[in-house]
Amino acid sequence: MYSINIIQPDDWHIHLRDENTLKMTVPLAEAAFGRVLAMPNLTPPLTTVQSVLDYRSRILANTRNPHFTPYFALYFNEQLTADTLQEAKTCPWILGVKWYPRGATTHSDWGVEDISQHFEHLALMEELKLPLLIHGEVTDSTVDIFEREPRFIETVLMPLQQRFPKLPIVLEHITTLDAVQWIQNMPAHIAATVTAHHLAFNRNHLLAGGLKPDYYCLPVLKQAAHQYSLQQAVMTSGQTQFFLGTDSAPHTRDKKYNSCGCAGCFTTPVALALLAELFFENQALSLLEAFCSINGARFYQLPLNTQHLRLTQQDWVVPEHYQISGLTFVPLLAGQTLAWQYHIAENVHHE
Ligand code: DOR
Ligand code: ZN
Repeated sequence: MYSINIIQPDDWHIHLRDENTLKMTVPLAEAAFGRVLAMPNLTPPLTTVQSVLDYRSRILANTRNPHFTPYFALYFNEQLTADTLQEAKTCPWILGVKWYPRGATTHSDWGVEDISQHFEHLALMEELKLPLLIHGEVTDSTVDIFEREPRFIETVLMPLQQRFPKLPIVLEHITTLDAVQWIQNMPAHIAATVTAHHLAFNRNHLLAGGLKPDYYCLPVLKQAAHQYSLQQAVMTSGQTQFFLGTDSAPHTRDKKYNSCGCAGCFTTPVALALLAELFFENQALSLLEAFCSINGARFYQLPLNTQHLRLTQQDWVVPEHYQISGLTFVPLLAGQTLAWQYHIAENVHHE
């Protein structure tokens, strides 16, 4: 039986949702991660520093682990002001501003459609070194859904990066070889998050042998060749611009198993187990720590976590569902047996 200790991981892209759902998402997150970057696509979205501070209090009311630290991104919206950006920069819990192109995904209706209308904000963010976090897909409905990320990189991201060359950027939840190659050609202040599900799965898991809504997310799972390019990026040493953001995005079961099902894979309970299995199978377990626990902290210029996580090769069965306040959420891989477990190793200290 194999086991390893790694510095406690962080999740640099998570949807904790709000209200009663926090009673489920927060304990699951803090059982695995030292820090998370909570996404702002609530209803209404987190558009002001005060709304972030209020949300932070609601999250902290559900924590048990005093080490657990939630961070946030503001929601880039049409009413964003320079004052809000300045204030965000001074708030220790806000790490960036998230741009959802309007219509790209869940609760993106408040997003900015045409970023060129807001170049003065990007110039200020560049000056403040306040990262822009991007859902990188074009929203033009005539563009094939599998091509929306490459098209975004070519038509939106490349010109934007050239115009604001010092702006820190995180291209979130990348899914394609195009994204991998773009990041690899960029300097260190440009990075990408990668999810466990885009590393472990491809569109066959979603579509072959029956439509499986639990695997439906945005950006949608791509073909295997793209999946392998992501695996290669995170399993090659020195690729410090790639780090874990699970994009765990719970929706209630009735909203997922629906004639117009919501996008989002609920992966917090399984993400680290899936990653341990994947890295182990690829003889790359020694690279897991950089991807989950080091690269992201370095990008956001935060210290590494002092706690450790022990990953042990031991079977467990993923719960069929989680229930909270009358709501039912089905995790990815519900009912399946996974080969790795984890728990916080309190007695190991970082030298
Ligand atoms: O699959 C997704 N779900 N992708 C996103 O970008 C948003 C997320 C959500 O909030 O449900
Ligand atoms: Zn997300």
